[in-house]
Amino acid sequence: MDTVPASPAENPRGTLVWDAPVRVFHWLLAASFAVAWLTSDGERWELVHVTAGYTMAGLVAFRILWGLVGTRHARFTQFVRGPRAALEYLGSLFGREPRHHTGHNPAGGLAIVALLGLTALTALSGWAYYEQIAGHWMKEVHETLAGTMLALVVLHVAAVVASSLLHRENLVAAMVHGRKPAPGAEGIRSPWRSVALVLLAGVLGFWWLQWQAAPAAEQAALLSGHHHHHDHDDDHDED
Ligand code: HEM
Ligand code: HEM
Repeated sequence: MDTVPASPAENPRGTLVWDAPVRVFHWLLAASFAVAWLTSDGERWELVHVTAGYTMAGLVAFRILWGLVGTRHARFTQFVRGPRAALEYLGSLFGREPRHHTGHNPAGGLAIVALLGLTALTALSGWAYYEQIAGHWMKEVHETLAGTMLALVVLHVAAVVASSLLHRENLVAAMVHGRKPAPGAEGIRSPWRSVALVLLAGVLGFWWLQWQAAPAAEQAALLSGHHHHHDHDDDHDED
């Protein structure tokens, strides 16, 4: 590119930092997490819960790939640092010159690795319990992992808000439109919308397949909002 604006002032719309696949990944992951959490109790929503969990596992697999071959700020080499760098960054926030990073900061990078890892483990344990590969103890493992995830997500959102206030930039909006007030030279060239579309199509296709594969009784129960009676489960209806 020949005419890269040198400073934020020359580039009022902001510089593209997050490519479209990262943004689509993020909001699908957050939405699926909310759905998985809201449907985690009991059998009625089990199909939706399982589908949301598998969706998250698939999203993490995609993100690992994209962290290797994606755009500049999406790459693990750009933001995965050790705990020491994270502590140094956090320490700098209390000093005279708080450090600022155009992409993820080193503390955020650690949280991202933990969130991706926990998502994979939570989905794996849910699957092992659901498919009866392991016994009831696996349900306990699944619940503990999910609870740890929830705690980390709360911390994640709190850190996003704190960091937005501290650096006076709206990080949530940046995760939506992808742009930040940063020097043009730190931006990325292409939003890679085609990759984001393939990701979105893959997720929608998976949901459609899950719906098609569901027993008619389960579909009817989900559509009507009435409790679907399992033969072996007549005694704990909550309706
Ligand atoms: C409403 C809730 C949420 C908000 C507002 C939110 C906001 C954000 C923001 C602003 C970033 C970018 C941080 C930065 O600038 O460095 C981010 C990154 C991230 N968030 Fe969230 N988040 C939410 C929920 C979640 C949930 C539920 C998960 C996981 C289950 C999650 C996982 C991640 C991951 C993995 C990244 C890294 C993005 C990437 O590079 O691919 N977030 N989030
Ligand atoms: C990765 C995202 C996931 C999250 C955040 C999550 C979260 C949870 C939570 C919080 C519970 C608690 C239920 C309770 O306290 O009684 C639960 C239960 C359960 N989860 Fe997941 N889960 C995920 C993925 C999965 C997957 C991929 C499967 C199966 C393939 C699965 C299968 C189950 C089953 C069978 C239960 C027991 C439901 C019941 O009470 O009968 N989960 N999950």
